[in-house]
Amino acid sequence: MAFDHRKYVAFKPVGKTDRRWPDKVIEKAPAWCAVDLRDGNQALVKPMTVAQKQRLFDLLVKLGFKEIEIGFPAASQPDFDFCRKLIDENRIPHDVKIQVLTQARPELIERTYEALDGAKQAIVHVYNSTSTVQREQVFGLDRAGIRDIAVQGATLVRDLAAKHPETEWTFQYSPESFTGTELDFAVDVIDAVTEVWRPDQGQPVIINLPATVEMATPNVFADQVEWVCDNIKRREHVSISLHTHNDRGCAVAAAELGVMAGADRVEGTLMGNGERTGNMDLVTMAMNLYSQGIDPTLDLSGMAEITEVVEACTEISTHPRHPYAGELVFTAFSGSHQDAIRKCLSKRKEGDVWNVAYLPIDPFDVGRRYEEVVRINSQSGKGGVAYVLERDYDITLPRWLQIEFSKVVQREAENNGGEIDSLTIHRLFEDRYLKVHRDWALRSYDLHRDEDGVRAEVSVGDPEASVQLEGRGLGAVEAVSEALEQRFGVAIAVEAYDEFALGEGTNANALACIRLTVNSEHSSAAALAEDTTSATLQALLSAVAQVVGVTMPAQVGESALA
Ligand code: KIV
Ligand code: ZN
Repeated sequence: MAFDHRKYVAFKPVGKTDRRWPDKVIEKAPAWCAVDLRDGNQALVKPMTVAQKQRLFDLLVKLGFKEIEIGFPAASQPDFDFCRKLIDENRIPHDVKIQVLTQARPELIERTYEALDGAKQAIVHVYNSTSTVQREQVFGLDRAGIRDIAVQGATLVRDLAAKHPETEWTFQYSPESFTGTELDFAVDVIDAVTEVWRPDQGQPVIINLPATVEMATPNVFADQVEWVCDNIKRREHVSISLHTHNDRGCAVAAAELGVMAGADRVEGTLMGNGERTGNMDLVTMAMNLYSQGIDPTLDLSGMAEITEVVEACTEISTHPRHPYAGELVFTAFSGSHQDAIRKCLSKRKEGDVWNVAYLPIDPFDVGRRYEEVVRINSQSGKGGVAYVLERDYDITLPRWLQIEFSKVVQREAENNGGEIDSLTIHRLFEDRYLKVHRDWALRSYDLHRDEDGVRAEVSVGDPEASVQLEGRGLGAVEAVSEALEQRFGVAIAVEAYDEFALGEGTNANALACIRLTVNSEHSSAAALAEDTTSATLQALLSAVAQVVGVTMPAQVGESALA
């Protein structure tokens, strides 16, 4: 059988007994390093052109990244050219450090320094693989042999840097495949490297711990990070950096727990592009911090621009459910979610902390519009439909009508099988409730109040042949209902009616909604008019019309006109 889990063995946990990281809370953003132009680029079907790299670099600078890995110049001519272009054309802001990657091989390190000639400041990132599988199966070297590669690389990095004192150098070392490396050996190699670089004597040094392949749950990675932080020499003089990959889908979680475990810096890419399942997604991690009230030190407010540039440069589209950035991540289709969002948003006051059900952050903060939050399909309910009418047309529906109208919308959605846009919702509302047949249009009304109640005289229908109705009741609705009962020989019971004043910007000033039983049939209608009485009487007429017929029928005992 090909699908056989017995082929695999479980990752051995660290067996730590003094772990402190689970009780830690992240209170400030780590230093970020964007590796889109190197690790991200190395993973593309079509590597970026120099122009694409420049576009992405400019975006990263605009977002606030202060450390940007721009390539592997010794391994790729376009990367070399891009590095030269940035330096020669003076395109690196004074507060941004470019970082370049090189394997710990002499000829590659030498070429790396050629690429960096004239840079004001730069991070030289040197790595070699340290894991058991790489040692045993790829390099055929023992621990000492692997440590030697690292030490020789570190030595050459230091010596070549010394020949270019005009540049402010930071040295970075990665024990590549760290997650598959025995911790005591990882610490041994790191210590051997820092022995050469002497961060304790002032040389800025970054020790980067890559989850080159994500091999275990994020808590295991956090244990590994804490273990290294506790056991390396010169800890207080080095910056501990993380570089997680997403093989198990937990790159962000691993980096977050790794920061809790003591790391100072995190490498990743925008939207998580990178080898295989990708690198740690900087957007997600930074926005996770933002959602906890922590300044991410990056400006991610222009999410549309970020996705547009990343897509153009990587030729990879953004998943609609990508955290914080996808098209659908702030959208609720489900009725109960829509209802909750609508209630929270309507209670929210300017200056309140964000506390809205189903929305971890305010979509507006990343340039999204509230229009996208509630979208209607056949899963939606009354809250969503009511929200769309309120938001886009200033129409407030009473609860009973929300329930009734949402069924109309749901039927339409089921028939068309997809999303119902705001215009369609409005059209459905007009067609079903607001439409006034010429024969039932309220022309004028006169209400006379005396000690017995209200006497109503109403003129209805086509101006050429309008019908006069007259009735009495305790109020206007009752009086006109009585007039209609008499004229058409029906029994009318008003089950509910509601009137709303409308906001500015609409032609009508009032909306009325009414639900009747006419004989034993339910009927409901709504009307817009200049004043609430006109709106209510028109709604009453329209609701009765639905039962007795849209064309004004003849009076009881008269012959029908139509
Ligand atoms: O994933 C990795 O290990 C790397 C290193 C070169 C840092 O990209
Ligand atoms: Zn990587």
